[in-house]
Amino acid sequence: MRKLIIAGNWKMYRTINEAIDLANGLKRELFKLDFAYVDVVLCPVFTALSEVAEVLNETDIGLGAQDVYWLDEGAFTGEVSAAMLKDAGCQYVIIGHSERRQFFGETNETVNKKIKASLKHGLIPIICVGENLQEREANNTFKVIEDQIKGSLTEISGEDLLKTVIAYEPVWAIGTGKTATSDQAQEAHKYIRDLLRKMYGEEAAQSIRIQYGGSVKPENIAQLIGKPDVDGALVGGASLKADSFSAIVTRASEVRK
Ligand code: 13P
Repeated sequence: MRKLIIAGNWKMYRTINEAIDLANGLKRELFKLDFAYVDVVLCPVFTALSEVAEVLNETDIGLGAQDVYWLDEGAFTGEVSAAMLKDAGCQYVIIGHSERRQFFGETNETVNKKIKASLKHGLIPIICVGENLQEREANNTFKVIEDQIKGSLTEISGEDLLKTVIAYEPVWAIGTGKTATSDQAQEAHKYIRDLLRKMYGEEAAQSIRIQYGGSVKPENIAQLIGKPDVDGALVGGASLKADSFSAIVTRASEVRK
């Protein structure tokens, strides 16, 4: 059975002090959680990473960044490298989030470079894919996902694939309150797993974890996690409060036990 992974993507919210408070709140709420069933990851803004790392020190809660640049260092104003994220205490990094694709020109090619750089430095990439509403309505969902998966994973070996996590986030479900039904999520997750089976074989397909993201809340997590190919969640809005994020994590681990 694949271990669940639930990550909170804090996006561009929370100052350093607010982030410390939120991380402390979660530490308290998740004190009794059995981490044998679920990996939990927090992804604050860059400026709060070191402080949140300190709060999470000696807990089972992991830390991730929301983006990375693919070179180690250099004259690249505004960018942060994988080595620097490691230095700040990260174990994970979100790559190719739809907001980065939509607003900052992220492409499958840059996602691919970022995945390679992250793996080189021992960071676990959380690789985001997902169609927008127009693409879904034009029946292009699978084609879009296939292009994103194949483009993002160019020259990534089967061994390296197992050091990554995939996040399926339909763009139309992000921040809209309009969650994909658990059947819609399962259909896309199964498609991704079948595609990875064709690319990397049965063992890799069975081992890789695929998270769902898009308006995940305490009320819908159990249904999503109940589906055979949904291995966790990438949570936006509901990860910004300790009570709702801990409720999501706790419910997911109860379903999986
Ligand atoms: P919401 O949970 O706010 O819809 O955001 C999802 C998301 O984009 C997580 O990366």
